[in-house]
Amino acid sequence: MQFNPAEMGIREVYTLMVQLITPRPIAWVSTVSKGGVTNLAPYSFFNGIGANPPSVLFCPVNRRDGSKKHSLLNVLETGEFVVNLVCFDDAEVMVQTSADFEENHSEIDALGIETAASSLVQPPRVASSLAQFECKLLKHIELADGPAGANVVIGEVVMMHVDDSVVDKNVVDISELDNVGRLGGKSYTRTTDNFELERPSVPGKT
Ligand SMILES: Cc1cc2nc3c(=O)[nH]c(=O)nc-3n(C[C@H](O)[C@H](O)[C@H](O)COP(=O)(O)O)c2cc1C
Repeated sequence: MQFNPAEMGIREVYTLMVQLITPRPIAWVSTVSKGGVTNLAPYSFFNGIGANPPSVLFCPVNRRDGSKKHSLLNVLETGEFVVNLVCFDDAEVMVQTSADFEENHSEIDALGIETAASSLVQPPRVASSLAQFECKLLKHIELADGPAGANVVIGEVVMMHVDDSVVDKNVVDISELDNVGRLGGKSYTRTTDNFELERPSVPGKT
């Protein structure tokens, strides 16, 4: 079966993409508005880009009325954000923060989420998250404006925090980190079913 996005509605294209591009890591993005209101929302069109410069991206699409999401507005205003990784224990509260909270209404305050101060940026970190990236805006790319218009936010990672319980001499215990990933719709996955593969040194050899 093949699907031509040019002959499909935006919603249909979105649904197919989020079911196919799986599992997706989740950036639980904290920001602060110019007026000082904190914001926290999950974004699963998220990934690391590279280590030079240390960089990550997340992709807030515009709402159906064409308005930009609060996380994007805050990043554009202040140039700063924090990516909090989402462990299994935080999954339910993470989903709560995806509700359409009004501007100037903090998810962090409304849901009583405990935070910790960041070192180099204003947005706070989620205290229960086991790893966080403090980021400064490198680039905002607007691929389309209007309803569902796609945006890419690229941040330079200026500080990384990892809970002592999951790291030993730079080696992270992935099962202790217990990140969740997003599948399609309401489905999520855990990083508990793992397997290992050796990379070949030359083609065809292990
Ligand atoms: C697990 C999860 C992943 C999400 N990923 C995205 C995403 O990649 N892009 C996006 O625009 N919205 C995504 N959303 C929806 C936003 O979290 C939601 O629109 C939220 O209200 C945005 O908040 P804000 O306006 O405070 O930034 C996701 C929601 C959930 C539950």
